[in-house]
Amino acid sequence: MEIALSFKDRHVVVFGGTSGINLGIAQAFARQDAAVTVVSRKEANVAAAVALLRESSTRIHGAMADVRDFEAVGQAIVSACAQFGPIDVLVSGAAGNFLQAASRMSPNGFKTVIDIDLVGTFNVMRQAYGQLRRPGASVINITAPQAVVAMRYQAHASAAKAGIDQLTRALALEWGEEGIRINAISPGPIEGTEGFRRLLAATPAQETSAREHVPLKRFGTIEDIANLALFLASEHAGYISGAVIPCDGGGATESVKPALEAAGRLLA
Ligand code: COA
Ligand code: NAP
Repeated sequence: MEIALSFKDRHVVVFGGTSGINLGIAQAFARQDAAVTVVSRKEANVAAAVALLRESSTRIHGAMADVRDFEAVGQAIVSACAQFGPIDVLVSGAAGNFLQAASRMSPNGFKTVIDIDLVGTFNVMRQAYGQLRRPGASVINITAPQAVVAMRYQAHASAAKAGIDQLTRALALEWGEEGIRINAISPGPIEGTEGFRRLLAATPAQETSAREHVPLKRFGTIEDIANLALFLASEHAGYISGAVIPCDGGGATESVKPALEAAGRLLA
């Protein structure tokens, strides 16, 4: 069940907001009366997301940008703010991932994930900085458990997401002085998403085993993450900043470990 918190007259911008978890976050804000901008690379994805979000709100805007392209990110933000004014909530969730052993990972494969996840998050925050409402804006970065726990075949994503965690804490110090709160959400395995498919969905038996390893005995839902985003962006979270908050049913690592080991046997 989605929590109810009004975001009427607020402008929410979601990078990577055209599918999966980030689209779910955008949809939750649209349902709470926010004006919402979603940004990603592919025109068809942006168009499809805008059409879906318009079922919840008329105040929806889509823009195209690759988060690796600093200028393009800036242009997307300019177009968003021309539509709906300063940004009240900024979500940075664009990411890329694949399973690969470090011994076989190409330098460009490593760099690509660092560029999308970590440099992309910096680009998004840096370009939005001048357009964030002060005081009161809330920034939510999307990180992952491998930022803090070593996981096989995730050297690139682990390094990138660890960087996002520290970026979150560092900028919470600097921008907090202007009344901007900056936090990160660390989702566990969220069913029905691309990230889940890429990392975990090997066989039905492995999926069942992974579910059994989650202390709460279920995978997360997109709604679980969207609810945390709504709360973090609301005034109820007005004293929370610089926090990296897991939403993983009590321990994501235990659940993904066997699945990653199995995936590794397939990679070998
Ligand atoms: N295994 C190993 N290496 C891989 C790989 C895989 N499955 N997929 C891509 N790479 C490597 C490529 O070989 C390339 O390196 P090279 O030039 O040395 O050969 C490098 O990564 C870049 O690949 P490319 O396809 O050019 O990158 P891209 O910018 O077009 O796409 C990805 C980025 C690879 C992350 C792509 O999967 C993507 O767009 N993902 C977005 C969706 C996603 O990952 N969702 C899950 C979020 S958790
Ligand atoms: P997803 O559906 O693949 O979503 C990724 C989004 O980012 C898409 O909208 C994609 O659209 C966009 N994107 C990708 N590369 C981009 C780029 N270079 N520039 C701009 N946009 C880009 O992924 P998901 O599984 O829902 O994951 C969403 C977030 O949650 C990610 O940050 C991920 O690391 C994190 N996470 C997910 C899980 C999980 O279980 N799924 C667990 C932990 C953390 P385009 O292709 O149109 O660009």
